[in-house]
Amino acid sequence: MNSFAVINREDITYERTDPDKTQSRGFTWDLDEDDVIYGLGETMGGMDKRGRTFVSYNTDDSHHRPDMPSMYGSHNFFIVEGKSSHFGIFVDSPARVTFSFDDIKKGQVYVLVESPDVAIYTIVEDNAYQITRTFLKMIGPSFAPPLWAFGFGQSRWGYKNKRDINRVIRGYKNANLPLDYVCLDIDYMDRYIDFTVNKKRFPDMASFVEEKKNEGIHLVPIVDAGVKVEPGDQTYDEGVRYNYFCRNEKGKFFKAAVWPGMTHFPDFFRENVRRWFGGRYKALTDLGFEGFWNDMNEPAIFYGENSKQQSFLDMVLDFFLPSRGEKKEGAKSNAYEEYEHFYHVIGGIEVCHHDVHNLYGAQMMKASGEGLKQLLDKRYLLFSRSSYIGAHRYGGIWTGDNSSTFFMLRQNLIHMASLNMCGFIYSGADTGGFGGNCTKELLLRWLALSDFTPLMRDHSAIATRKQECYAFGDPEDFRKVLSLRYRLIPYIYSEFMKARANCDMYMMPLSFGYPGDEKARRIEDQLLVGEGVMIAPIMKEGALSRKVYLPEEMMEVRYNGNGFRQEVCPAGERVVKVPLHEVVFYIRKNKAIVVSNKGVQNTGQLNLYDVVKLGYDVPYDQYLDDGITPVA
Ligand code: GLC
Repeated sequence: MNSFAVINREDITYERTDPDKTQSRGFTWDLDEDDVIYGLGETMGGMDKRGRTFVSYNTDDSHHRPDMPSMYGSHNFFIVEGKSSHFGIFVDSPARVTFSFDDIKKGQVYVLVESPDVAIYTIVEDNAYQITRTFLKMIGPSFAPPLWAFGFGQSRWGYKNKRDINRVIRGYKNANLPLDYVCLDIDYMDRYIDFTVNKKRFPDMASFVEEKKNEGIHLVPIVDAGVKVEPGDQTYDEGVRYNYFCRNEKGKFFKAAVWPGMTHFPDFFRENVRRWFGGRYKALTDLGFEGFWNDMNEPAIFYGENSKQQSFLDMVLDFFLPSRGEKKEGAKSNAYEEYEHFYHVIGGIEVCHHDVHNLYGAQMMKASGEGLKQLLDKRYLLFSRSSYIGAHRYGGIWTGDNSSTFFMLRQNLIHMASLNMCGFIYSGADTGGFGGNCTKELLLRWLALSDFTPLMRDHSAIATRKQECYAFGDPEDFRKVLSLRYRLIPYIYSEFMKARANCDMYMMPLSFGYPGDEKARRIEDQLLVGEGVMIAPIMKEGALSRKVYLPEEMMEVRYNGNGFRQEVCPAGERVVKVPLHEVVFYIRKNKAIVVSNKGVQNTGQLNLYDVVKLGYDVPYDQYLDDGITPVA
């Protein structure tokens, strides 16, 4: 099991997927009537996946419909749990995999792998939690982000220059709202060229990064997978000179359009290419950056030499008007047909991209993670849009272009459970929603969930309503809900670091903590957070109360921006009232947690030793370190 290195696949012989699927392989497992199916990481739908079909084929499609079969990552691990079934299955294949989870009611799981290149791992343990633990031990511990990455981050596609970034930081400061980092979306670059800075917009980026760090704010730039075809640009020139880019069937460099226009794609499957691309982050670490987000690495392709050209305006309009995109012939959010013309060289063999598609983003994460480890003498922050099982060793992920709806808020909670089962314990969604217009109520309710997710970032799309916490009039309610995060960081950080060291989950479904509790097995809107906390956020528009299930006696904790009120509650169902400016959570019986003694404006001001205990009168084993020195 120790040789389990799912994204080090150089030893595997690749064979071209047979278009008639004669090389595809099917596998079945029988289900009992009461079995539920957990897992599959980033997929739409409920916590119990039974009754649905999912397709692992990394996809850039921002219309996250409830029945959408594929998302940005492929996490092919699922668990079957029932009265007598307790097994987990990991389908390790770089190609497209279809999971039919009893959708045609035959009492079977059917998995179709469109490649002969597949390894199946079966784990049998006493319950779903133990199965997950064994799987997490197999795939190894998560990367360790710095402490500041557990602070709150503000982002928006549309912050263009120094002035915009300063305005955001000032907005938070003036409203007395905490903030740890601001993300720089594609507009900081020179014409969307990776590893460049637009000098007009950011005349002296190094001093700006330094100045912000002195104010306690980190800047986190985006890096896209495609490298603009731009003779004279260092990344492009080196990529061409040393043959680092993927080629097409005619032996020419493969070319397709993303944000910068025509781009080439680094062949991340080759070690020398990963070393080179990872080393290119030096252009950014030299400017003082210590955190990055990798995007468009499914890879997303707007159009190419073999598909219908779309203008930038077309792309943006399709994004905002989904029905337009769906109706238009030939144009869609991603030009999948291009993958057939896109080749890698793996172990000296030419491999069609289609056959290894699901590993591309993960290999980019590996390139960045390994590069940053070399370049920085401290921990780095990295989160990626595309991923595959195993990539958690290099960075975290965010769940892509969601939208400002209560439905996507609920989906965020479900994603946290299934992503944790697949090792991605440093993850989170665009708080408030990326597409669409967020309301004050939605953002407050979303923050109340994100208060507990390791990655906590408010991000939104260009042309949507402004979504910063100070953008909705009087920020008092936001101050209350957001300040909870900074009180909780000592617990969140400690539980995260313990979970990673022990290959454990940081967030999990209720049923994992209460195996055998039939009621807990059906609860899809509550989560356990670390060893001691249960959350039950309000995720319905207009609701001021909700039903909560307590599998055992618990301490109900109510935070109103100033202090914590605690009350012991008996096991069973209860209705809890939660006004918009308050957050309620629960501490499990005979558990305690630590919270910061005072509220702070960023993690730089936080003293992890200055804590008070909440919950039951028992000791809490707090993990402590300096939050920045790399850990093994
Ligand atoms: C993609 C990303 C989104 C980003 C946008 C512009 O849609 O998912 O987060 O803001 O590209 O870079």
